[in-house]
Amino acid sequence: MPERGKFIVFEGLDGSGKGTQISALRDHIRSTGAEAYFTAEPTISSTGGMIRDALGGHLRRDAYELSALFLADRIFHNVNPINGIRQYIEKGIDVVCDRYYYSSFAYQGIEADLDWVMKMNLGCNEILKPDLCIFLDIDISTGEKRISENRFDREIYENVEAQRRIRKRFFEVFDRIMENENIKIVDASRTVPEVSADIIKIYNELKEK
Ligand code: TYD
Repeated sequence: MPERGKFIVFEGLDGSGKGTQISALRDHIRSTGAEAYFTAEPTISSTGGMIRDALGGHLRRDAYELSALFLADRIFHNVNPINGIRQYIEKGIDVVCDRYYYSSFAYQGIEADLDWVMKMNLGCNEILKPDLCIFLDIDISTGEKRISENRFDREIYENVEAQRRIRKRFFEVFDRIMENENIKIVDASRTVPEVSADIIKIYNELKEK
């Protein structure tokens, strides 16, 4: 049996620079000749499509309903036989995922009952626990500036008040689960190379374990 791959998740508010930093990590991993599978949530499954309609504000969904859609999408993301996370990990290939259950806790957990959302995700055997979560932390005004520069349409959570509540929720959740999860908080208000150097250091530490 090959050694299991590492499962790495990126989290952060909208506008925190996840996309840029994930591609910088991809370039770094490629330069070392290692193999990794890059993926994101919501996925491109039919459930992911329903989620995107709701995020775009085209169809209003209850926060519990949205939590359940993210949960179904996440189970599919883990177990589907074509490109599910689990099979890469079991084959010894690292997986890097843009958002995961921490986003459900912070985003859905501001409207739906947080304990319920956490229990559904953490209590589900099909949903793998990440080996590392990198949280790109920015203050609300930096995030807002980046969202307004880069977006034509705003999603339902892309407003200052929601982002403020979501950031607070992320930290409350991290306090609660810190002991059982490997969460690294990175100051993402710095320049792209500064942030990326920190991320590569954290990645290398995980690989050396
Ligand atoms: P995002 O990474 O911002 O994608 P994009 O760059 O295409 O906008 O993620 C989309 C949105 O989905 C983001 O606002 C957070 C939200 N989300 C949740 O609310 N709950 C979840 O469980 C996940 C995975 C994402």
